[in-house]
Amino acid sequence: MSQAASASAADAGEPGALEVRSLSVRFGGVVALDGVSLSVPAGAIVGIIGPNGAGKTTLFNVVSGLVDPAGGDVTYNGRRINGIRPHELNRLGISRTLQGLGLWRALTVIENVMIGARRGSSPGFASALLGLPRSDRYEAALKEQALAQLKALGIEEYANRHPGTLPYGVQKWVSLARALISRPALLLLDEPASGLSANEQKQLIALLRSLKERMSIALVEHRLDLVMSLCEHIHVLDFGRLIASGSPTEIQNNKKVTDAYLGSELTDA
Ligand SMILES: Nc1ncnc2c1ncn2[C@@H]1O[C@H](COP(=O)(O)OP(=O)(O)OP(=O)(O)O)[C@@H](O)[C@H]1O
Ligand SMILES: [Mg+2]
Repeated sequence: MSQAASASAADAGEPGALEVRSLSVRFGGVVALDGVSLSVPAGAIVGIIGPNGAGKTTLFNVVSGLVDPAGGDVTYNGRRINGIRPHELNRLGISRTLQGLGLWRALTVIENVMIGARRGSSPGFASALLGLPRSDRYEAALKEQALAQLKALGIEEYANRHPGTLPYGVQKWVSLARALISRPALLLLDEPASGLSANEQKQLIALLRSLKERMSIALVEHRLDLVMSLCEHIHVLDFGRLIASGSPTEIQNNKKVTDAYLGSELTDA
């Protein structure tokens, strides 16, 4: 584990604070992020919006160690975590969902959720009582945790199904369960509402509001009505640049933003 990861192990139950400063990412000739500075304060739900190709997913990829920036800093709870590796993330208390689903089709729902568990978490009390060998206890404990997470999201009936056999909305919930099982302090959500029905979007809003007590949330989303109703603060990216930051009302009235979106989606919101 890197020094950054060991230095700032997650504070259980305390929402985490993320800050990126002057972040730049280049893919060959494409400047995906260009000197972006923004923050997700502890306990906030912050929206990150912008047209296709603006750099939103790239931002999450840098924070989660999948993409190395050409310049800039990523700070989590006041500590620099540049160069963190993806497998160190959940020990820090950071979880993310992937754009789309990112589920393993050959695994069952419960196995997909178990993958998200925090490494090194100790076997639960119930499985210890069963007197199982240590590795079996660990497996049983993970299953217990995963089932509890599925229950919390109301989808435990699908535990032993394969994701590909389930409606898209349920699969989105499974990907959320996988991100939540590690009890993150910071949750990065990449388009959680895409493909959801109006009713499922309402459920998502209620769920994210209920999570706010325990974790900070960075929400990348094209459904701007959802962003406007959930987020107290919104950052707007366009062609890799931060073009605006502010409250939903400020963002809706910002000409740079409406120009970037050609006005249409914001008017709908
Ligand atoms: N691994 C990569 N290699 C090359 N170019 C990339 C890579 N990842 C992203 N890009 C480019 O970087 C830019 C930003 O992409 P990114 O996926 O971050 O946008 P986004 O805001 O998430 O868009 P969307 O709303 O469509 O998901 C785009 O021009 C994209 O083509
Ligand atoms: Mg994206």
